[in-house]
Amino acid sequence: MSVHLFALIAPQRATLYSQWVRQLAPQEWLASPLGRDISQWEYATVGGLDGLRIHLARNLTETDLELLGFFALTAAVFRIHKGPPLLLEPLPLERKRVLPRTLLETRRYKGKTNELLTDLMINLAWFASPWANNPRTRLRVLDPLCGGGTSLFAALVRGWDAFGVDKDIRTVDTTVAYLKHFLRTVRVKHDVNRARVKGKGRRWTFTIKVTEPPLTCAIAQGDTGDTFDLLASPKAHLLVTDFPYGVQHRGLVIDLLTRGLPAWLRSLQKGGTLVLVWDQRTLSREEIVRLVEGFPGLRALNDPPWNGLVHPVDRVIKKRDILVVVRDTTT
Ligand SMILES: C[S@@+](CC[C@H](N)C(=O)[O-])C[C@H]1O[C@@H](n2cnc3c(N)ncnc32)[C@H](O)[C@@H]1O
Repeated sequence: MSVHLFALIAPQRATLYSQWVRQLAPQEWLASPLGRDISQWEYATVGGLDGLRIHLARNLTETDLELLGFFALTAAVFRIHKGPPLLLEPLPLERKRVLPRTLLETRRYKGKTNELLTDLMINLAWFASPWANNPRTRLRVLDPLCGGGTSLFAALVRGWDAFGVDKDIRTVDTTVAYLKHFLRTVRVKHDVNRARVKGKGRRWTFTIKVTEPPLTCAIAQGDTGDTFDLLASPKAHLLVTDFPYGVQHRGLVIDLLTRGLPAWLRSLQKGGTLVLVWDQRTLSREEIVRLVEGFPGLRALNDPPWNGLVHPVDRVIKKRDILVVVRDTTT
């Protein structure tokens, strides 16, 4: 049995540069566990809607449907009945959310990572990991340069635990205040524990009672090189992070990687995966791969679709790239 599908691409406010969603939508499918069974795909317009026509060389399973409910760049999926007349049957996708998605959408600030891109980063890390075959496994996501917490909130919304570090005091204070305010507004019971980490910074640990056991979100203020001590948390399954943009930050990005990675690896499970997003004006893909692979046990994925993720963001950032790195299970 095989199946023809129409995937509706997630609508974006049209700007000169919103094409990246359309560009990366097929890559998300190809990187997913469904990817190996996609025998053909093409861009297609059906009924005036922009999407992908996908031929899957097998039937869809319940697990596939659960997984598709997490896709970032696909808004809905239809089974194509070729007819005539051609008919589209919507697939019953359930978007599993334990907190309202407004948590990551409401706040706007300079330097925020796009929400769809953040969901995509988490999905790519997940798809490359050993945990992708069971969409019900609850994972821990670490962002060691978490800024205003977009990645942490994206993890929480899907019912996963989240851990983040940022050195900017004001950013961390406002992020903690925002999360508290949000949880109060949506009337979700929670506790917040505040701790000092001697000589390194501070940590706020939220226990959010929307699931059983409750969700954990720890946000620490301090240097990313102290991630392990600052968070003092169980090891994460997935690490996703978005580096500072701009050609002037080349030295900073190299420093963050060389000092950060040893600490990040202490906080990441063996077999875990990393997704790094950066502006190619700071470092080339080859340079970043060389740096990362200098650490034992890390391997950058550089075959299709993993090497086809570079995309333009705006007039200035023409090449934002995404590197997916797997950690072996022994080192
Ligand atoms: C591109 S921003 C991340 C944005 C974030 N994903 C968001 O949506 O808000 C990079 C972040 O790295 C942080 N950063 C830079 N150097 C750092 C360091 N040494 N330790 C911890 N955080 C650092 C900055 O404060 C900034 O918030």
